[in-house]
Amino acid sequence: MIEFKDVTKTFDSKQGTVHAVQDVNLKIEDGHIYGIVGYSGAGKSTLIRMLNGLETPTSGSVNIDEVEISALTGAKLRAQRHKIGMIFQHFNLLWSRTVLENIMFPLEIAGNSKADAKQKAAHLAELVGLSGRENAYPAELSGGQKQRVGIARALANDPQILLSDEATSALDPQTTDEVLDLLLDINKKLNLTIVLITHEMHVIRKIADHVAVMEDGKIVEQGPVLEVFKRPQQAVTKRFVNEEVTPSLTETTAVVDQLLAKYPKGTIVQLTFHGDQAQLPIVSEMLKQYTLDLNIIEGAIHQTQEGAIGSLYIQISGDQSQINGALAYLQKMRVETEVLNRE
Ligand SMILES: Nc1ncnc2c1ncn2[C@@H]1O[C@H](COP(=O)(O)OP(=O)(O)OP(=O)(O)O)[C@@H](O)[C@H]1O
Ligand SMILES: [Mg+2]
Repeated sequence: MIEFKDVTKTFDSKQGTVHAVQDVNLKIEDGHIYGIVGYSGAGKSTLIRMLNGLETPTSGSVNIDEVEISALTGAKLRAQRHKIGMIFQHFNLLWSRTVLENIMFPLEIAGNSKADAKQKAAHLAELVGLSGRENAYPAELSGGQKQRVGIARALANDPQILLSDEATSALDPQTTDEVLDLLLDINKKLNLTIVLITHEMHVIRKIADHVAVMEDGKIVEQGPVLEVFKRPQQAVTKRFVNEEVTPSLTETTAVVDQLLAKYPKGTIVQLTFHGDQAQLPIVSEMLKQYTLDLNIIEGAIHQTQEGAIGSLYIQISGDQSQINGALAYLQKMRVETEVLNRE
């Protein structure tokens, strides 16, 4: 069982003291899927980072099976960390390693022989539905496949707990559902406890059994998902539950279908920019290097704690070789690209 007891975490910064997590008390039973929802800056990541010792509480204690994680250091902390796997929004894969080698990485670090690591990694690749893709590189995979690698890698050292920090936020709805189904499946098969952070109630609704709502560092509401959905008490919870998500292009396959019907000629590409990448210079540089017609369909930039995330839908037409060159250029610039159709 996971137990947060009176946990507070403050950060001192130039702007003053930030109360990232305040007076949190939370129990998570083994084998549960516990969702933590809240708007940006609510303290969700800080809270779960205290579970694997990436942050230590300013006061209070964080316990797993009555071992106080927050008091461990050095080799003891490292041993505890093996019991906890983590997956991330942007996958955090090693780009120069194949699928199999990515999954082998934590096994090698833990001191397994290469042969053992390979055998285990192959088994995990199968478990997450990547059979046949073992020798592919991350750049050759779809977002959903990349997250499957992330999940397999997180499971490598047989953890008891899987932490998921917005692991489906970079994925389209269908892929999100596929990854959530996989998480449900491994939760059952391995009796794994999953603590997942999300800002999408859809994710909570689909797989979590319990939910805690965070606001300004505090847990303002918690309980079984159905209870919270039926009778939200706090304003922030009501907002989450009632939130009518305006369909963005990725929201529904129907919208993508409409788009393809409207722009039948070119190749429609979704570009996703992360962090500090300046969006437009990359696109204008691409146009200088390749002869293409470009049509911007829709774009949006969202600010997060980790920086900006931008999504741009463009339609490009021209020679296939120019299109391929442009797509390769975008990948080289580490812009995530997803081709929605290809002539
Ligand atoms: N290392 C740090 N130093 C200073 N302040 C920090 C640090 N880490 C987090 N914070 C602050 O603590 C608060 C909570 O941040 P946290 O990342 O936990 O929020 P979050 O709920 O995960 O947000 P998001 O949904 O954007 O990821 C924010 O105000 C953030 O700026
Ligand atoms: Mg976060």
